Amino acid sequence: MAGMVSDWRAHAAESELAKLVEELRPGELNVWLDSATPRLPETVRVNPCRKDVEWTLDLLLQMGATPIDWFTPKGGAFTMPWEKARCGNDRFIENIRALHTSGRITRQEAASMMPVQALEVQPGDRVLDMCAAPGSKTTQIAEALDGSGLVVANEPNPGRANNLVSNVQRSGHLNVVVVRQDGRNFPRVAEPGFDRILVDAPCTGTGTTRKNTDVWATWKPHHGEHMSRLQVGILSRAALLLRPGGTMVYSTCSIDPMENEHVVEQVLERYPWLSLKKVNRAELFPGLNTRPGRTDSTEDCIRVWNDENDGSGFFIAVFTQDEEGQTSARATRAHPRDLDKVPTPISAKPLGKMDLRLGDSIDLQLFSEWGMETHGLTLWRRGQYAHVSIDAIREWLWDSPRLTGKHQLYPGGHWQPLRVLQAGQPVWKIRKERNRFISTGVHGLAERVTNHCLSVDRALAIRLLDGEEPGRSTLTEAFQGQRDGGVLLRCEDEFIPAWLAGKLSLMMTDAEQHILRLKLGLL
Ligand SMILES: C[S@@+](CC[C@H](N)C(=O)[O-])C[C@H]1O[C@@H](n2cnc3c(N)ncnc32)[C@H](O)[C@@H]1O
Repeated sequence: MAGMVSDWRAHAAESELAKLVEELRPGELNVWLDSATPRLPETVRVNPCRKDVEWTLDLLLQMGATPIDWFTPKGGAFTMPWEKARCGNDRFIENIRALHTSGRITRQEAASMMPVQALEVQPGDRVLDMCAAPGSKTTQIAEALDGSGLVVANEPNPGRANNLVSNVQRSGHLNVVVVRQDGRNFPRVAEPGFDRILVDAPCTGTGTTRKNTDVWATWKPHHGEHMSRLQVGILSRAALLLRPGGTMVYSTCSIDPMENEHVVEQVLERYPWLSLKKVNRAELFPGLNTRPGRTDSTEDCIRVWNDENDGSGFFIAVFTQDEEGQTSARATRAHPRDLDKVPTPISAKPLGKMDLRLGDSIDLQLFSEWGMETHGLTLWRRGQYAHVSIDAIREWLWDSPRLTGKHQLYPGGHWQPLRVLQAGQPVWKIRKERNRFISTGVHGLAERVTNHCLSVDRALAIRLLDGEEPGRSTLTEAFQGQRDGGVLLRCEDEFIPAWLAGKLSLMMTDAEQHILRLKLGLL
């Protein structure tokens, strides 16, 4: 075994990546190698938007969590006392899995939480997460917004976009819209553009040796050069979507200057109205060891090395859009040559059968059926699912007219040219004119439900969790007059989706069942 370790170390020391480190930090290769191989600790971020956040924090502390001091947003982030995927306690593994799957926490590497903290999201912001899958930073942004403003989470790769959708559903936020675009050609949106943009770019991952062990063997210097062209393309498009006064963060998990300082310099040169924000690194990440960017023009950037903090290598640049006398992003307003011309109206293609469309009057009856107060909510429909988002998504991305680059005007009333996969959350599943409330809608909406919501005692909740399906006639009076279909049960402070017909059946995810068992003291 000892032989294997030293062989491996010799192999790593000979790699092209080690040569890059030696070049960047002469004489420090051995220190870096010592920290570039151990497994990462398990780290988690707590979702502060859940009403049971204190309960979640207690559970994490009982399992030995210690706070990550530099992570300052609400909810907090924690290091668990075991290495990633190496926890020896089966109960703790199940707890962490259930907390993550139910959206109460996000398992996320600590360094990966930094870019969103640097974005300094403010309530009400319209935020674009340009390279979003699998979505840990999207959920972090949504948590910072706490229901106000909106996040457009973009991922061009179809498989990864599906992961993004699942992650957003896990988190339960109603202000996230998932789109699928190549970031280099991200479509125009309505004025004024985005207040904040995160470009967490695809990269070679040279800072992730503790997670991706094959980086050692595979990385070659030309990979960074190749990647930097894509990165410049994505970041350049993002800059055009940022409103004057807005903030944009560029980040990679690479240590290669080609993917970092070089990309920043290229974009600064291309767009003189963009500048790097003077970030006080010690104030932004108190207690974290960071270094500046490597060149004069990029010294306001942030470099994080794995050996100087117990994590991965990361790079962050914070830009501001400084254009004077303008209020909206360059890619939202008319070209100066077209200013006096009336834009040519353009009509959108009809929506496809599986496109998400605005709910019609029949769909809207779901709100009244469930006795819900609908202020600020928009209902969407696709196939068997009815989705709900906040109105701001409809108002800005669906209703608002928007220009094309050819001075044509989409009149609004559809998503085009955006390809939208999801808006808000799926809330109801509808089959054969019956519907049921699904778990993805519970976090954001259950508190608004006044019909078909029935109190149950602990004993009945336990029987349901044990797999029993009690007959309707054995239940209390409140159940007898209910229509057949979905109901929400309320036990203590918890909402439990269920189905009521001749009998009562639980419709809860495994993760939510685990959480309820913990809360009822059954585990
Ligand atoms: C570093 S990952 C993003 C990680 C994500 N921000 C998170 O924290 O969960 C980069 C993502 O960019 C996507 N990507 C690749 N090419 C892209 C392009 N042209 N435009 C936008 N995103 C792209 C990749 O598929 C990948 O999912």
